[in-house]
Amino acid sequence: MFNPVKIKENLYWVGAIDWNIRTFHGYTYSTHSGTTYNSYLLVDDKVALIDGVHMNFFDQWRERISRVIDPKRIDYFICNHVEPDHSGAIPQMMQLMPQAKVITNQRAKDALLKYYSTYWNFELVKTGDILKLGKKTLKFIEAPMIHWPDSMFDYLEQDGILFSNDAFGQHYASLERFDDQVSLELLMDENAKYYANILWPLSPIILKKLQEIKAMNIPLEMILTSHGLSWRKYAHKAVESYINWAKGSVSQKVLIVYDTMYYSTEKMALSILEGILSSGIAARLYRLPVSDMGDIIKEFLDSKGILLGSPVVNNEILPTVEKFLFELKGLRPLNKIAAFFGSYGWMKEQAAKYAEGTMGEAGINIALPALNIRYAPAPEELRQCFDFGQKFALEVKNGNQRNNAGKARQA
Ligand code: FEO
Repeated sequence: MFNPVKIKENLYWVGAIDWNIRTFHGYTYSTHSGTTYNSYLLVDDKVALIDGVHMNFFDQWRERISRVIDPKRIDYFICNHVEPDHSGAIPQMMQLMPQAKVITNQRAKDALLKYYSTYWNFELVKTGDILKLGKKTLKFIEAPMIHWPDSMFDYLEQDGILFSNDAFGQHYASLERFDDQVSLELLMDENAKYYANILWPLSPIILKKLQEIKAMNIPLEMILTSHGLSWRKYAHKAVESYINWAKGSVSQKVLIVYDTMYYSTEKMALSILEGILSSGIAARLYRLPVSDMGDIIKEFLDSKGILLGSPVVNNEILPTVEKFLFELKGLRPLNKIAAFFGSYGWMKEQAAKYAEGTMGEAGINIALPALNIRYAPAPEELRQCFDFGQKFALEVKNGNQRNNAGKARQA
């Protein structure tokens, strides 16, 4: 039995819980805790349904709505974002609410028509437009690229509630609906993972939009998200954390990310780790094939530095490391520094050059020359690795930003 959750008088959560999804966007974002597709029903003189769910969850959505109101009575369906995790079940639901107008923006309308080849009764809105429902009024705020060009927020003026769609969400399936019902540490961890894996490359746009919303000085009693938990106790903390990530705020932390063939590069990684730790800088070490890419990306979000390691194979880096570099390039992180290390047999230049070049393209500053060791590290070479870790830690401490090209990059 799928029950709605009453949020406040005449406002209900009527979304769906997806306990079993384990990757989002089909590849690197591991969703160990599942997700939810949140939808809200606002009952006033007019009835508005806000956002939809994934096509596989139509039955949950329909049942929760029907326990509040006959879907035929819905006057407006407000579509804030067309990505299919929120729009897949709309065509089925539209059949049950024949009188509903679809309230959305031009970009979302175009996408809906392209995805579903159908025609509904659209009413287009833009930033600043309002929809009067009776006692309550919704104001629309277009938020392009948070997360798609069509993305939009809605603000329920009388209650200070922001319907933020993808922004501030997390992929976290639970029966709880609010921030104060779970551990804050867990919530912020999922929040960071979501930002890092979904929104990070869009940081300049996010920062601008959030500063614009802050300047509006609107009361923010709740942020109702379209994934995971919503915010009522820590709504301002959610906004501040996004602003910090969007600005590229980092802590003095280093990630060592590597793969290894005959454990030479791994021995180097462990000695480098010791060097970093001896300098009083926090560090975490991940061997790529046995580590979760989505978790590494989350950990990188607030880390200052990354040390990337690979042995040379056929004069190239290992494919696992190349895949990680591909991810880094897409993230376009701000304020990061890096260096490369690895073992080799007889050709050492190409792997380091490729790794440094790709990290440079990602806007990451190369803080130290690559450390390459032939075949296997001898004891004195392990000492070089330790020193390399210490030197890199010093660069982190000094906040190395010699080539801060990343700051200028736009999503
Ligand atoms: Fe949750 Fe951009 O879709």
